[in-house]
Amino acid sequence: MKKFFPVYVRVPLLFAIFFLAIEWLVGGDSDKPAFVEHPVVLILLGLFLFALIAVEIVASATNKILDRLMTPEERALKQKEASRPLRDAPWVKRLMQKLTNTKTIEQEGDIMMDHDYDGIKELDNDLPPWWVGLFYVTAIFAVIYMLRYHVFDADNQVAEFEKEMIAAKEQVEEYKKNAPDMLTADQAVFSDDPTVLAAGKALFDTNCAVCHKNDGGGAIGPNLTDDHWILGGGMKNVFNTISEGGRPGKGMVPWKSNFKPSEIEKLASYVISLNGTVPAEAKAPEGDIVWSKAELTGGDASEEGAKEEASEEVAVDAETPEVKN
Ligand code: HEC
Repeated sequence: MKKFFPVYVRVPLLFAIFFLAIEWLVGGDSDKPAFVEHPVVLILLGLFLFALIAVEIVASATNKILDRLMTPEERALKQKEASRPLRDAPWVKRLMQKLTNTKTIEQEGDIMMDHDYDGIKELDNDLPPWWVGLFYVTAIFAVIYMLRYHVFDADNQVAEFEKEMIAAKEQVEEYKKNAPDMLTADQAVFSDDPTVLAAGKALFDTNCAVCHKNDGGGAIGPNLTDDHWILGGGMKNVFNTISEGGRPGKGMVPWKSNFKPSEIEKLASYVISLNGTVPAEAKAPEGDIVWSKAELTGGDASEEGAKEEASEEVAVDAETPEVKN
């Protein structure tokens, strides 16, 4: 063994194995290597390397001493063993014999068959056990395969693929549900939950009030409390306006790089909650699109439906403007 793994291969190899094992055990799912994440690992690695080198030094010293104590015959025998090729090692020979079950040339007389074709003779060798074993394995495999796929109708590749695709789709949906920051304008839902509105108000007061006033009455930006919208009311439109901005040059910039989608959703909920309130100094209504908060709950349409239809309804409403409230 020593011949195949000299010390300059053995030590780095063992160290690498230890290192990878530690990475695998300690690393967990973080991107950084374990020794960066947990400095203790560094100490552990150092200790291991130290121990490896110590063992090598002790082993080589012991070998030297043993060598000195040997008689010349023993030394010759050891050298002969060390220079013997692997295929002559006793354990390799035994293994090959087990796997192939060959007869030696001396034993060939026992298995010689009695026919003779112009001097060509035949030996009745046993089938090599490795081959016979493999044959049994394939036979067993065939029986299991046939039962599984042709008797008990397990899924074939196509069915397996389709099932996995369905499962993956479900996982994506599940992920989207729990990751509000993948949210789009279509998925944004109005919430009158006080904590949501409070969070929205906090963002509004620091970022939006300069132009829209704290109470939404309007200054540079339009009044957000009336039912007239320049860019459209309802969660979807308001979400879109906040994230993508207003018409170019009007001053309402896209905010999507400042806020996460979940924050925009809260802002939009807060803006909609302002609808119908009475600000201290209301700017005159601007915009031809009429939409009021009542449409969120209005009629017997579900909230989802009302939200979806909001943008189409306002187009019709715009023809015959009727100011609610
Ligand atoms: C620099 C001033 C300014 C700031 C700051 C500002 N807005 Fe605006 N906002 C405007 C202007 C101007 C418009 C009109 C845009 C247009 O005419 O296209 C507008 C339009 C809007 C509209 C559409 C109103 C309608 O009638 O359709 C909404 C909703 C809105 N802003 C919400 C916000 C929110 C939420 C913030 C804070 C994140 C914000 N705005 C910050 C200036 C501003």
